[in-house]
Amino acid sequence: MARKDLLELASLSREEIDRILDQAVPFKDLFTRSVKKVPALKGKSVLMLFYEPSTRTHSSFEVAAKRLSADVTNFDVFQSSVVKGESVRETVETLQAMRTDFIVVRHKRSGLPGMIARQTKASVINAGDGAHAHPTQGLLDAFTVKEVIPAPAGRKVLIVGDILHSRVARSTSSVLRRLGMEVAYLGPGSLVPKACPDGVRRFTDYNEAMAWKPDVVYLLRVQMERQDVQYFPSLREYHRVYGVTPERLKRLDDEGIWLMHPGPVNRGVELCDEALDYGRSLINRQVENGIAVRMSVLYSLKPGGEE
Ligand code: CP
Repeated sequence: MARKDLLELASLSREEIDRILDQAVPFKDLFTRSVKKVPALKGKSVLMLFYEPSTRTHSSFEVAAKRLSADVTNFDVFQSSVVKGESVRETVETLQAMRTDFIVVRHKRSGLPGMIARQTKASVINAGDGAHAHPTQGLLDAFTVKEVIPAPAGRKVLIVGDILHSRVARSTSSVLRRLGMEVAYLGPGSLVPKACPDGVRRFTDYNEAMAWKPDVVYLLRVQMERQDVQYFPSLREYHRVYGVTPERLKRLDDEGIWLMHPGPVNRGVELCDEALDYGRSLINRQVENGIAVRMSVLYSLKPGGEE
């Protein structure tokens, strides 16, 4: 049976993950054509409901929906009755009266997209909820890894940084492990949970983690906005101990290691300036693939009550 919502990745079967990733391939092929649109969602409406800032996720969902010929409404939270105290429930009920087919929602509260999904017939897509999940980021990361490592089972990904607050770490490691990859976390002891998911290695020392021989190093953004206390001495110290410095970049190059980051990059914190021109950086490709994968997600979901 077709799925109504995409709230997190744990509930997706391996077949569903493979279908979304495989279906994204022809959608990506469209990008090189002179006509980049298909009529797959003609007559459907997509509502963008972002309570937190976003550049990549918001714009790529909008482009994805338009390339599928859907109508897109950008709900401007900060110009709406939300600023007068209207609750999310009231907002969704009001917007539901407009009979939208898809709601793409980002909110700082974990679980809020699920609450909306129970309240509406529209298909709800979680575009990031607190520190819980960012499922389309996980899927686009998996798609990007598979482009450069077509047989990912048994290969290794080292995720570096603020694991504790990261919905990206949760979703991306979940999907990569489902593809059979080995995953390890590296970061300050205060930002890498002592209890990692089963099978995930935990490192706090950069050299020990690199001795594990990762194929991909995935840097997370240091999310100052989610840190209620100081988890490391300074950003400069963080860069020195965990960032990709020019010397570490050379080692990545010598060892043929791919580099990923979900964006936005804090230059001089996670990555030195030189890393932005690194030949095995997949950062721009992650953004490009985000559109194809989100087209595939929109195409896969079935709003409630539809055959
Ligand atoms: N990767 C990501 O979620 O980026 P945005 O916050 O710009 O959407």
